Amino acid sequence: MMKKLLMISLILYSASAQMSLTERGKELFMKYNCNICHAPTDDAASVGPSLETIAIHYLGNERQLMNFLRGEAKPIVDPVRFGIMKPQLYKTKHMFEEDYRALAYYLTSVHKNQ
Ligand code: HEC
Repeated sequence: MMKKLLMISLILYSASAQMSLTERGKELFMKYNCNICHAPTDDAASVGPSLETIAIHYLGNERQLMNFLRGEAKPIVDPVRFGIMKPQLYKTKHMFEEDYRALAYYLTSVHKNQ
């Protein structure tokens, strides 16, 4: 009985921890105006790749995405147009470690938690 309760609370805890990671990531995404150029899906015409497209390249590879946001990894989604994205990286250059994790999680989250 106790074991079962412990399992359930652990599952609930990790679910809520993931939610808040997505929420924090979204908060940063909005705060830095990333949404101006990045729409959630490919339906909308926007300057940068959609979160859907970003997720295709980085889902399961969030470490590399965090390095990209630090300015330490090369672009892999649309390298030819990196000139438009590059100046944006000054916004994400000096974040807390946890914020890199949250932003990377959000950027690849279109199909997570659904
Ligand atoms: C002025 C428009 C613009 C803004 C604002 C912008 N981006 Fe981008 N972003 C682009 C363009 C264009 C690309 C495609 C070039 C590329 O892939 O690097 C891109 C690509 C990306 C990629 C894919 C990188 C790769 O591997 O190729 C990520 C991740 C990204 N942006 C995240 C962000 C985040 C986070 C913010 C907010 C801090 C942001 N962008 C703000 C235009 C923008």
